[in-house]
Amino acid sequence: QNWFAESGRLKGKRVLVTAGGTMERLDPVRFLTNDSSGKMGFAIAEAAMRMGADVTLVAGRTTEQPPAGVRVIHVASAADMLEAVMKDFDEMDIVVKSAAVADYRPVIVHEQKMKKTGERLVLELERTTDILATLGERKTRQFLVGFAAETQQVAHYAMDKLRRKNCDLIVANDVSQEGVGFNGDTNAVEVYGPDGLIVSLPLMSKREMASRLMELIAVRLAAAGG
Ligand code: CTP
Ligand code: CA
Repeated sequence: QNWFAESGRLKGKRVLVTAGGTMERLDPVRFLTNDSSGKMGFAIAEAAMRMGADVTLVAGRTTEQPPAGVRVIHVASAADMLEAVMKDFDEMDIVVKSAAVADYRPVIVHEQKMKKTGERLVLELERTTDILATLGERKTRQFLVGFAAETQQVAHYAMDKLRRKNCDLIVANDVSQEGVGFNGDTNAVEVYGPDGLIVSLPLMSKREMASRLMELIAVRLAAAGG
């Protein structure tokens, strides 16, 4: 039951959400990507909008249709996503980074379709810029929420990401669990703040999860004087 939906408690707040997977080109017909569907991020954008916020959604590859009433910016690569996010960051009150951003991209983007040659092919990849860490360095009043996809030692890695990337909250999912994470319509998460675990949200629909997360974010933002 979305008892807090349409509550208007984020009225006047500007919220930026990133969602979906990035797409890193190799040649005109090939790219590297991941299993992210964008469902969690799209649901978060919709939940924020229902709570009265002015929402911008920076979307990579996704299976979802943009929710009505949300400004959507489509991007492909991690570099495109960084550029789109940086353009609007200073004006934002809340930023939720649920996108699955590629950690590496091909060093060489071939202009022509690659032809096969030998029996083996080694691709050279280079690191992308960490968008969330870049925002963490730049933030002034923005309430910054990161995600963490882990398969082990969830609390340890989540707290490490929270500190390294200067986030206010980290939403961690154990993607080795059934029904959790990248694809699918359900999720289960643990939310961490600077003092450790805040809440464990059990398996539920991503829409319900999105409302619970936005509610928590609104409460924490208000407590921080925002
Ligand atoms: N992220 C980002 N830019 C990147 C990589 C990750 O903004 N180049 C963000 C994601 O959107 C997410 C958070 O960082 O909010 C954590 O992503 P995750 O992949 O779990 O962690 P990494 O820091 O990339 O570490 P690793 O993949 O090695 O666990
Ligand atoms: Ca990563």
